[in-house]
Amino acid sequence: MEFSIKTGAAEKQHGNCVIVGVYESHQLSAAAQSIDEASAGYISSILKRGDLDGKIDATLMLHNVPGTQSERVLLVGLGKKSEFSEKQYCKAVRASIKAAAASGATDATSFLAELPVGKMSTRWKTAHMAEVVLDATYRFDAIKRKKDAAEEKAAKRGIKKLAIAIADTKDLSEAEAGLADGKALADGVSLAKDLGNLPPNVCTPTYLAEQAVKLGKHYGFKVTVLERDKLEKLGMGSFLGVTQGSEQPPKFIVMEHLKGKKSQKPVVLVGKGITFDTGGVSLKPGAEMDEMKYDMCGAASVLGTFKTIAEMDLPLNVVGLIPTCENMPDGRATRPGDVLTSMSGLTIEVLNTDAEGRLILCDALTYAERFEPSVVVDIATLTGACVIALGHHATGLFSNNDALAKELLHAGETALDRAWHMPMWDDYQPLLDSNFADIANIGGRAAGSITAACFLSRFTKKYDWAHLDIAGTAWKSGKEKGGTGRPVPLLTEFLVARANKANKQ
Ligand code: BES
Ligand code: MN
Ligand code: ZN
Repeated sequence: MEFSIKTGAAEKQHGNCVIVGVYESHQLSAAAQSIDEASAGYISSILKRGDLDGKIDATLMLHNVPGTQSERVLLVGLGKKSEFSEKQYCKAVRASIKAAAASGATDATSFLAELPVGKMSTRWKTAHMAEVVLDATYRFDAIKRKKDAAEEKAAKRGIKKLAIAIADTKDLSEAEAGLADGKALADGVSLAKDLGNLPPNVCTPTYLAEQAVKLGKHYGFKVTVLERDKLEKLGMGSFLGVTQGSEQPPKFIVMEHLKGKKSQKPVVLVGKGITFDTGGVSLKPGAEMDEMKYDMCGAASVLGTFKTIAEMDLPLNVVGLIPTCENMPDGRATRPGDVLTSMSGLTIEVLNTDAEGRLILCDALTYAERFEPSVVVDIATLTGACVIALGHHATGLFSNNDALAKELLHAGETALDRAWHMPMWDDYQPLLDSNFADIANIGGRAAGSITAACFLSRFTKKYDWAHLDIAGTAWKSGKEKGGTGRPVPLLTEFLVARANKANKQ
């Protein structure tokens, strides 16, 4: 998709399609009004007939509108004017690009970024226009067979060039900056989706490590990959216990984006990278087990976020840690009842080999200490219980520091990639008591996502830490099966806000 910014009247735009908004009860946006005037009331006469009510998500394609230069005019419903918020704006942008793509148009000029959206700046509006459009037009066809000529032609449909119109030339540089932000974020989101969508026989721990090395080379940040012998030397017995049943070698990826002041303590992001979770000896049931290829989406979100902040050249110190392996049943696999010794020294009784995410994360969280972090945030498809608690809308947020939790919640609200703060009271900790080791790896059926967070909290006492359980938000099931790229938007917003704050001081 090729984007550009322009100014000018809607009726004067040449090309395949002009996109303008209409509020509920036939209230025209400024651009729609301008076309209406140029066409001697053509738009209002059509609205009077009742062909478009202006409800959000509704669209109406018009051809050869009198007084205009463009082949088509797409009217997009905006909902009630008084309720037109950030969320409605993104919805309207998404609906508009889908409707435009369904027509024969390959280029378009959108006037939606001229709409007032609360107190949002032109920069915010162009950034979200680019991000939503790229999200809506994302396709994963990397591993489909080569297309024949007819399919190729059909695949060529869709908008290839989008001009974003803004009202005032003095906002041009702001709009360009927003466009760059939006594209950088969309690139990170798209990488996270791709890695999630790849099949587990392709996206192995080795593949993830290669992708990290490639990213580092391309953007010039340092990437180190620790191999099994090094993990043994470090004493990562918990991580190694999970990988034991797999033929694929485990990898521990370390990425360092150090673009802040030397003295600035880094933010450390830790991503769960189970490239396939069978459950191990505590084998999962067969139904929908294929979706456990998405069990590396925490890792994918860290890689995606690194791509985005590298593209933005974000002035902040950020370290990314990715423990990655498979969880497989095998003669050598960890058994229920086995006791593992973690890098921290704490011993862990493995009562269920399917609670493996926490076992690889705990060693990574101990490893994080050596970076003297300002904060550590882990991202993991950790528990089915989180999906039961929050469904597919909110990411579960747990933290040992309320201010950090607030910061992340706020970032999620701003990025429209929301999280919900869950309790992690000490009352839940005894559920992890073990008769045979310092701690058990499961706490029973009750409060499953909370006891998982409590388990991690035993390894994060030395720093401020938050845990994002993305089991319900990292991918979609059913007909729309596919990675979402979440929570790359939340993490990016969080880091950008931190960089702004650090550079104001
Ligand atoms: N990767 C799963 C969590 C998961 C399950 C995410 C379904 C999304 C959808 C994790 O490793 C797991 O298996 N967790 C167990 C923990 C249990 C054994 C305490 C779970 O949630 O069932
Ligand atoms: Mn599991
Ligand atoms: Zn898992």
